[in-house]
Amino acid sequence: MSRVALVTGGSRGIGAAISKELKEKGYTVAATYAGNDEAAAAFTEETGIKTYKWNVADYDSSKDGIAKVEADLGPIEVVVANAGITRDAPFHKMTPEQWHEVIDTNLTGVFNTIHPIWPGMRERKFGRIVVISSINGQKGQFAQVNYAATKAGDLGIVKSLAQEGARANITANAICPGYIGTDMVMAVPEKVRESIIAQIPAGRLGEPEEIARAVSFLVADDAGFINGSTISANGAQFFV
Ligand code: CAA
Repeated sequence: MSRVALVTGGSRGIGAAISKELKEKGYTVAATYAGNDEAAAAFTEETGIKTYKWNVADYDSSKDGIAKVEADLGPIEVVVANAGITRDAPFHKMTPEQWHEVIDTNLTGVFNTIHPIWPGMRERKFGRIVVISSINGQKGQFAQVNYAATKAGDLGIVKSLAQEGARANITANAICPGYIGTDMVMAVPEKVRESIIAQIPAGRLGEPEEIARAVSFLVADDAGFINGSTISANGAQFFV
């Protein structure tokens, strides 16, 4: 039987490419989304991948949603915590609401996604966890104190989980995408986006599929010794 993979924010952008890649590799995929029913329905129509609606920022919704996925498809053995939002503003203009929305979704949302699945992975002695962080968690970013804090936090999560899960054959790794051609990056003002592209040695935005490729590498059954690592995929824009 094929392994079940959960991809949060899996019906659009980078998440959609990850869902499709994992399906192609033989996984049974469940993709979550927060609000865009139309995009989710179109995604299922196009790919045959089941979508589930819940807010990753809410623990009980995540727990209940995960229980539903497992009842429908079987135990979740691969988790890709991808769901994320931006609320960009220079720090002097950033509101407490903008701070909390991003922390609740991007950071607490990762806890809420992995925590209910973790005991089953420990029992079955198998698990593959990938958290989609960001180049901006590595280098910081003007107008992203909130977002950069969450994406740096993701790296702490995977490095800690890697140590806790290693004996149970559970791996946890992070991918730090650079600027990828998704709605999130397209929402940046055009002039700013052009100046960002000028800083990317590759001379272009990345493709969502270029991130999905790294995910399928990390979640493979024979990738058990790759644990606690961070893969950068940013067109050579930034090195750690
Ligand atoms: N570095 C230095 N200065 C910058 C800057 C930067 N990257 N971006 C903007 N500024 C400056 C502007 O030139 C302007 O300066 P002046 O006042 O001297 O003209 C000032 O900062 C902006 O002031 P505003 O009052 O106009 O700012 P605003 O309240 O309208 O906010 C903004 C504008 C939200 C900062 C907008 O410029 C923006 O969205 N910037 C992009 C931020 C960004 O890169 N976000 C990444 C999104 S993609 C993503 O997050 C995915 C991923 O993981 C990679």
